[in-house]
Amino acid sequence: MPPSSERLCDRFGRVIDYLRLSVTDQCNLCCPYCRPAGGHPSRAEGPLLTDDEIVGLLQELVALGIGRVRITGGEPLLRPRLPDLVARIAAMDGVRDLSLTTNGILLPGRAAELRRAGLQRINISLDTLQRERFRKISGQDALTRVLAGVQEALTVGLSPVKLNVVVMRGLNDDELPHFARLTQGSPIHVRFIELMPIGEARSFSGERHVSIAEMKRRIGSLEKVSDADRPTGWGPAVYFRKPGALGTLGFIGAMTDRFCHSCNRLRLTSGGTLLSCLAQSGQGMDLRPLLGHRRSLRAAVRQVVLTKGEGHRMHQPSGELQRRMCSVGG
Ligand code: 5AD
Repeated sequence: MPPSSERLCDRFGRVIDYLRLSVTDQCNLCCPYCRPAGGHPSRAEGPLLTDDEIVGLLQELVALGIGRVRITGGEPLLRPRLPDLVARIAAMDGVRDLSLTTNGILLPGRAAELRRAGLQRINISLDTLQRERFRKISGQDALTRVLAGVQEALTVGLSPVKLNVVVMRGLNDDELPHFARLTQGSPIHVRFIELMPIGEARSFSGERHVSIAEMKRRIGSLEKVSDADRPTGWGPAVYFRKPGALGTLGFIGAMTDRFCHSCNRLRLTSGGTLLSCLAQSGQGMDLRPLLGHRRSLRAAVRQVVLTKGEGHRMHQPSGELQRRMCSVGG
């Protein structure tokens, strides 16, 4: 842990200690809520950061107090030799929490290697438990593989295993009780995510949006999980449990809850741009040219932290949220 004078603190007193690290903007699925407005453009940034560049940038970020890292994409398992990168990050002094968000398709056969490399926990995006619906939402007939990936993550001891469910009216909102049932007999932590109006989702988020309050109503009896008892994580989910269940049910309400006051994160895109917020307008800071220039790099990181707004502006129709979730990592 760096001395407190070195730590990253924004204009609103929030300490920034968590990085979402996108390692590729490619994805093997095509979920409409994640697409940029107007479809997938070809790569908008320069080439992908190399493993050495990622490690070099992370070293500076860790020196500034980033101690938790989540690897995201795109689909991060599409990046060649991801376990090598995981091992290098896990071995860094100061990284005390390393996790991964994946769609799970490529997880079967790989979870054990990731665990051995030092990955501690995993979030798997899964919006439906019905094969045909999965194909309709994601464009791939891959539900069986994802479920096998979830099982393998549990078997190899990644813990906790969380499922991310983006809830959409008329597409999967009738499945909330089915997801809740998964937590009864397995230590699975399902998180229901409110649809955010980003990229292409801006055009349908109104009609598809389901509030956290409605989600809870549709699940029925829930017990609040105390902070001491919640699954490991430092994100904005609020956790509940079905009576007697092994796993939990979390709710992430970007539109309903005002959780920005406890935001602790930065985002690094796969091309090396540092962003202060998922919903940040503007371009962010290209860190790659600053590699090897420690003072300028650290000053740039501090500057990005100081641009962090008090809250996201996703409610405002005029924002610039054309951003590609695939390059920012959800
Ligand atoms: N609204 C809510 N969640 C989203 N994600 C991607 N796009 C959206 C959106 N428009 C989620 C993915 C994944 C996580 C990284 O971000 O489902 O679980």
